[in-house]
Amino acid sequence: MEIQKKTSLKNYNTFGVAATTPLFTEAKSSIILQETLKSPLFENALILGGGSNMLFLDDFSRPVIKVSIPGVRVIQENESTAIVSVGAGVIWHDLVMWCVANNLGGIENLSLIPGLVGAAPIQNIGAYGVELKDVFHNAIAIGKKKGDSRIFDIDDCAFEYRNSVFKNELKDDYVITTVRLSLTKKNHQLKLEYGAMQEILDEMQISTPKIDDVARAVIRIRRSKLPDPEKIGNAGSFFKNPILPSSTIKKLQDVYPSMPTYELDSNFSKVPAGWLIEQAGFKGKRNGLVGMHEKQALVLVNYGGATGLELWEHAQHIMKDVHSKFGIELEPEVNLIH
Ligand code: FAD
Ligand code: EPU
Repeated sequence: MEIQKKTSLKNYNTFGVAATTPLFTEAKSSIILQETLKSPLFENALILGGGSNMLFLDDFSRPVIKVSIPGVRVIQENESTAIVSVGAGVIWHDLVMWCVANNLGGIENLSLIPGLVGAAPIQNIGAYGVELKDVFHNAIAIGKKKGDSRIFDIDDCAFEYRNSVFKNELKDDYVITTVRLSLTKKNHQLKLEYGAMQEILDEMQISTPKIDDVARAVIRIRRSKLPDPEKIGNAGSFFKNPILPSSTIKKLQDVYPSMPTYELDSNFSKVPAGWLIEQAGFKGKRNGLVGMHEKQALVLVNYGGATGLELWEHAQHIMKDVHSKFGIELEPEVNLIH
């Protein structure tokens, strides 16, 4: 196990926040990870993937283990489906491209989501009408305290919109080493319902899309509105889209008839937090080194040099204003790291 002392994490988080850790190591296999977790030096370590869904607050001082377990392979298949087993350190988008190239369907709508495979179950990543849970087979994880290996089936994970058991009851308890997905080999079930998807496919003059066309369409949509973390620090949507009871939605729509909503069932609907933030006047508005992105009001950005606390203070300011204008509590999607 190679250990680096006093390491800057600036290049390890997509916000580009200049946090440091007293001890940093990379686990390139499950065995190395198990050994590292046993070491008293790495007690209470932060588990780091691609750092694309975390905000380091100023008092961060824990050791860090970056999970870099490689490998993608088909472990089981029949005529119509394949189970693909993927190391937690594989870049999510590389996996999507590998699946598309091998005609395995199911995750093409999740193209270009930053980060690593091991973090995908943590918030049940989702985009353009698909969530990880739709293709999830199981995951292997190691207990941080006891070093035990455990298989999590879908029912163990309590997947919900941007949520799972790993963010609640088992928060910080397990490190995911392998994720297995169940993908289609033929008769792919394409999900094309998301608003701009059909428009983009029409623009691309594609009438009978294949999975690679869907991936290309998603990539085009994402590039047109989401800022590239290589150019401007961000962690995607900073808040979750709030889920509200239909009675609350009705009252709000009496006052704000243009408020968009997405019905989940007869009792609940989602409201786009980006719309709430834009209406509260924050879209594209800069406050010192931070602000909300000009094309996507839900994306908190670091224009360069902001601290974690400055970013968090701005987020809190927005939460307060949205609450006083609409009576809605925004909840951060990004993990706040102390
Ligand atoms: P990290 O940020 O490194 O970690 C996130 C959390 O998971 C932390 O709590 C960490 O401790 C924990 N963790 C990481 N790896 C493991 C592991 N192996 N075992 C246990 N715990 C672990 N998300 C979406 O869902 N949909 C989107 O469309 C989307 N778009 C985005 C666009 C941009 C531009 C950006 C910057 C982010 C976007 N995200 C999106 C958020 C982010 O990409 C995902 O949440 C991604 O899964 C995070 O992966 P990561 O490896 O960077 O995780
Ligand atoms: N909107 C505005 N102003 C804005 C942004 C959005 O009014 O500045 C309204 C518009 O009505 C728009 C609607 O919000 O039609 C939805 O916007 P968009 O399609 O951009 O999606 P989102 O709800 O803002 C969610 C996810 C994204 C995911 C996309 C596509 C959450 C918190 N965010 O964003 O995930 O990529 O849908 O499925 O659910 C992430 O989690 O980091 C992330 C980027």
